[in-house]
Amino acid sequence: MTASGRRPLVSGNWKMHKDHLETIHTCSELGLRLGRGAVGAVDVSIHPPFTDLRSAQSVIEAEGVPVSLGAQNCATADSGAFTGEVSAVMLARLRVEYVIVGHSERRTMFGEDDEVVAAKLQAVFRNGMVPICCVGEHADERDAGRTTERLQAQITQALGRLAPGEVARMVIAYEPVWAIGSGQPATPEDAQEAAATIRGRVTELAGAAAASGVRILYGGSVGPDSASPLVSMPDVDGLLVGGASLDPGTFTEIVGGAAATVR
Ligand code: 13P
Repeated sequence: MTASGRRPLVSGNWKMHKDHLETIHTCSELGLRLGRGAVGAVDVSIHPPFTDLRSAQSVIEAEGVPVSLGAQNCATADSGAFTGEVSAVMLARLRVEYVIVGHSERRTMFGEDDEVVAAKLQAVFRNGMVPICCVGEHADERDAGRTTERLQAQITQALGRLAPGEVARMVIAYEPVWAIGSGQPATPEDAQEAAATIRGRVTELAGAAAASGVRILYGGSVGPDSASPLVSMPDVDGLLVGGASLDPGTFTEIVGGAAATVR
């Protein structure tokens, strides 16, 4: 446990990578590598594409891989005439535990606004899973000194329909858009400042108990070297890892880096 009492979470967002056969192989490999490490100190989730979830679930359960299954997105509705969508009901049936909501790639490329994000957060909770809600500023907002304002607005919109008890259980990922895929993560100090801003806004909106429960991850070009310094920060409770989560060896190193911060 960390000084905060929050258990760190390291989540691997595979984005649109790996078919179901590659996923089977990767999950097996992760089981072998994580099983030997200090995974007991942290929670770990992997978020493969929808078409891989059933295969991942089978390997995780059959081989006792110490990770939770996660998804990258879900529909706002539980069922209906929504061609091409996948509902939170369907994900829960596959024993998905975490669902990423409002990733910046969905916000910018697929037009998801704060209203849609708020509805998806409700859908995830309605179906007994935990959302990982992504927020973060663009480079121009950062350059204009508007990071705090942007984060506060996104948090206000995201939490609008949630009960304090739900907020306490959710995960918020601070992902500065300028850091994603750039090879250059935010500094631990910048990540801490943003995480503290987010927790402060959660306190104002949902109360101190919710704010001390919510886990805040950092995401954006995380690698084995940056993992431990980032998670050492008092308000950074874990990592949302993109590219570096695809290789089981690299991802295991990152999990180990996060685990090293736990006493
Ligand atoms: P990278 O780690 O590849 O920068 O991606 C971060 C991300 O978007 C995770 O959701």
